Amino acid sequence: MAKPPLSMKPTGWFQVAWSAELEPGSVRRMKYFDRELIAWRTASGKPVVMDAYCEHLGAHLGYGGHVEGEVIECPFHGWQWNTEGRNVCIPYESRPNRGRRIRSYPVVERNDAIYMWHDVDGREPYFDAPDVFASFGDGSTAADYYPPMTLFREGLELHPQYVLENGVDFAHFKFVHKTPIVPVFTRHDFAGPVSYVDFTITFEGDENQSIEDVKSGVEAINGGLGIAVTKSWGMVDNRTVSAITPVDERTSDVRFTVYVGRTPGRDDERAERKARAVGEEIIRQFSQDIEIWAHQRYSDPPALAPSEYDGFTKLRTWAMQFYPDAPAAEPRSAST
Ligand code: FES
Ligand SMILES: [Fe+2]
Repeated sequence: MAKPPLSMKPTGWFQVAWSAELEPGSVRRMKYFDRELIAWRTASGKPVVMDAYCEHLGAHLGYGGHVEGEVIECPFHGWQWNTEGRNVCIPYESRPNRGRRIRSYPVVERNDAIYMWHDVDGREPYFDAPDVFASFGDGSTAADYYPPMTLFREGLELHPQYVLENGVDFAHFKFVHKTPIVPVFTRHDFAGPVSYVDFTITFEGDENQSIEDVKSGVEAINGGLGIAVTKSWGMVDNRTVSAITPVDERTSDVRFTVYVGRTPGRDDERAERKARAVGEEIIRQFSQDIEIWAHQRYSDPPALAPSEYDGFTKLRTWAMQFYPDAPAAEPRSAST
């Protein structure tokens, strides 16, 4: 792929780790949005994402920085910084430096994942990260599902927008995912920074069936460009979270999390094996998409077929609001 003409510093929520990767008291180094960052978790369990460099003399806190209770201590001179990035202790002075602050980022932890809020202008979050259970308002919880299965692909040359475009790209399902017939969209709602796309789809039967007879589908909720959650109906019950996080001007990390539903009263080993096989198949399908995205060149304007025009145009117009260099369109103020 070529470097996309789209900004790699969009505004929104982006996954930086799975919860299990950040034990209380641990510190992780990472690079996202072209910045050296650290994630750490306090002894009481609070996850923190902040810039990696100590404001004193610039030591990288990811190399030897350690968590002491609710603060992180720099390995160089022992200065301690709290979860807001404020200095709370200089061990050889009677008072801390109240003026200096390490930049920290809003964080939410949900669905076994840690999300950071990124905005180049430093604005506070103006929309919520979608929840793969609660956002669908159907009373479901993680307890109704097997523990998640995951896929992590690091440093791929792809842009988060490619992944969301996949959601309005009805034709690819037949060719990439080998569905017998082309799905049909039943909802495109791009009014706010969280958008909704529903479609009727089947993976069963042959090409002679009519889409009107299909009794299964997928509902997707896109929380900005970083997170898309889906719920399936009429097929093996599953939920997915795809999360794409820009690393630098060319590459992104891809994380995919799949939850397969438990069958009430059937919690034996056989049911679990079956669920595992379903999860593996969903991950395999997602990997087929990744193969395309990772080598794609962003086509602008694309050569769209008439039936593709509406979905892609809506999606691309909606995506503009998250780019820092975008003209100030109304969706930016849709925060209320
Ligand atoms: S550089 Fe961090 S305490 Fe000195
Ligand atoms: Fe796909």
